[in-house]
Amino acid sequence: MSADKKINAGLGITEALRFMTALLTEKDISQPEAEARVLLLAATHMSRAQMITHSDRIISTDEADILSAWIVRRLKGEPVTRITGRRDFWTLDLLVTPDVLDPRADTEVIVETALDLLSTRRTQALRILDLGTGSGALLLALLSECPHATGVGIDLSPAACAVAQDNAQRNGLAARASFQQGHWANALNETFDLVVSNPPYIESATIAGLDAEVREHDPMLALDGGPDGLTAYRAIIQDLPRLLSPAGLCVLELGIGQAGAVTALAKAMGLSQKALRRDLGGVERALALGRP
Ligand SMILES: C[S@@+](CC[C@H](N)C(=O)[O-])C[C@H]1O[C@@H](n2cnc3c(N)ncnc32)[C@H](O)[C@@H]1O
Repeated sequence: MSADKKINAGLGITEALRFMTALLTEKDISQPEAEARVLLLAATHMSRAQMITHSDRIISTDEADILSAWIVRRLKGEPVTRITGRRDFWTLDLLVTPDVLDPRADTEVIVETALDLLSTRRTQALRILDLGTGSGALLLALLSECPHATGVGIDLSPAACAVAQDNAQRNGLAARASFQQGHWANALNETFDLVVSNPPYIESATIAGLDAEVREHDPMLALDGGPDGLTAYRAIIQDLPRLLSPAGLCVLELGIGQAGAVTALAKAMGLSQKALRRDLGGVERALALGRP
């Protein structure tokens, strides 16, 4: 590591934050201070509040070594979440390993849409299904807001199921969540009040052109939606009539420009659109479906 990128023990938190922010700014990283702060929080095990109230706390030798190694990895293009192995999603602190998609802020609109549509039913003993659960982000966020709900997360990757289980445990939700390896809903024969999914939806041919931070760090199984990006939607939607309870809802995450095609797949299965919500970037991101 070059000496000019080394974070020295003995620096105060504020100085370290300033130094790391400058290094990330030089590399044109879009939110340098926010990223430097996340790295510092993870290395020092401080809370955001402690970082403000103890801004003169000194960085130890061990912390300086960790931060120096992390900054080099970030400057080489590894996303912060992959470096720290953690992601804040909704109100949860999630572990993120190489086996799972790094949950994105855009996905929170799926949670918001489902909670809005459930309205007062949120307090009932709902059954929730999350298809392609990855880190468990969607299921766990919903369980955290629906105090009497229980749910199942399914993923083709056994390693992802293990990460989701860990996340349920560390967020105090393990008693209401279970995770199973499986191909979408093939092995399930019960009905659910809410089905959510953020399936892989990138067209296979465009994956090579994705940003390196996505292409090189998110699992291919989480990205590749087949030749037209719709393979997973077809599999999931064809099972919805047997999976949804009479008043059941399904909320799907969409890729850019997929609302029309996915709604058409749902209509062909006798389902209708209950809502279509945009994310903060204006993309039609959450499609809610149910019986007419
Ligand atoms: C885009 S990721 C979403 C992960 C998580 N739900 C989230 O929003 O962060 C899609 C997930 O679907 C899983 N997956 C892909 N094919 C699958 C299949 N045939 N059956 C079940 N899960 C599958 C992947 O392993 C991955 O975890």
